[in-house]
Amino acid sequence: MAMNVLLVGSGAREHAIAWRLSQSPRLAKLWIASGNPGTALFGENVPEVRATDLDGIVALAQRVRADLVVVGPEDPLAAGLVDRLEAAGIAAFGPSGAAAQLEASKAFAKSLMRDAGIATSSSMTFEDAERATAYVADVGHLVVVKADGLAAGKGVTVCDDVAQAEAAIDAAMRDRAFGAAGARVVIEERMFGRETSAHAFTDGVTVRHMPFSCDHKPVFDGDHGPNTGGMGAYSPPSWLPDGVADAIRRDVTERTVRAMADAGTPYRGVIYPGMMLTADGPRVVEYNSRFGDPETEVLLPRLRSDLLDIFDAVAHGRLADVPVEWSDEATVGVVMAAPGYPGPYATGAPIEGVDDVDEDVQVFMAGTATDAAGRLVTAGGRVLCVVASGATVVEARERAYDNVRRISFEGAHYRTDIAARADEALTTAVRR
Ligand code: GLY
Repeated sequence: MAMNVLLVGSGAREHAIAWRLSQSPRLAKLWIASGNPGTALFGENVPEVRATDLDGIVALAQRVRADLVVVGPEDPLAAGLVDRLEAAGIAAFGPSGAAAQLEASKAFAKSLMRDAGIATSSSMTFEDAERATAYVADVGHLVVVKADGLAAGKGVTVCDDVAQAEAAIDAAMRDRAFGAAGARVVIEERMFGRETSAHAFTDGVTVRHMPFSCDHKPVFDGDHGPNTGGMGAYSPPSWLPDGVADAIRRDVTERTVRAMADAGTPYRGVIYPGMMLTADGPRVVEYNSRFGDPETEVLLPRLRSDLLDIFDAVAHGRLADVPVEWSDEATVGVVMAAPGYPGPYATGAPIEGVDDVDEDVQVFMAGTATDAAGRLVTAGGRVLCVVASGATVVEARERAYDNVRRISFEGAHYRTDIAARADEALTTAVRR
């Protein structure tokens, strides 16, 4: 059956999703709320309807007679967009508001992991700043302070000492730097090791794993500087032993899906446990209830199956019936960011060179816009993500950077070491 699809979101992740959906013979028409100049290549953007405007999205889905709504970002998921759509009789890809608590409440996730025996660091949850401050002074190990709720990736402070932990508690609980998200904090033992992202599709029963991928959060080379939404990614991590990968899939992802069903909050959509490979084995750092960004940009080019078939099957609880196959090629994505990002950044700079990349290289748009003169200009912190493939990560990396150098805008910055450690053995990498 040909399908009308409404895609919710406006980042490089949604550009990558729109690109793959457009290759499905089953796609009749794609709308994107609100979209960007990249998604506009594959469908009709509806810029006036934002991802967090739940009423607007339900009304738009009804107006365009969407057969399926695909929700990209976490905020509308946590706010219950999928529940609202289903109540209106519209099929949706993504978890319910209750299931999206896996990402939207760190305390919920910790409690689920404790009950299901899923490996993560020890933690305590606090609603009182004084008690939280007393705890970090006494606990005797380094901590990570996490605002319980969604904070656009900014609510987590990895602390080097007690003073930093106290400041993080003050910022979240007393100063409300992250609004209501910081009314409660989770304080966990800091872990050391190497991180990888474990994505899977699930309809609540069947789980189809994606290849592993790795993000690079800090803004500068060598993992220096403040955290960002992600400055680049690669897939696959060849340093990840097959046995460890299998254990994560079985003991984390599949066990979580079962635990969510047992808890009465069955999980459908993309589930993405962020993992740390510690000296004591793999541990969950956090869950995400949607595709990662920039991981999506390096994962979807490797998908050999029809993405619309998969989304449709997940939404209707029949994922077991469709193939989900991946290529063996490697992919590397490098994010180009606006000057100042992740702090305050400039916008409106013309972007040159996006048409000069190799034919098989993807430039996924994030913070971009078309100005009154019809030029492509910067309009956000993470501006675009250049993704190349190759037989190995080393080859893909060389091609990605070769193409990045053809694109320019005033003050552009990017990391020069994305995937540089992709071949480094795990045994040395888990040491501090
Ligand atoms: N890559 C991290 C995230 O999507 O949250």
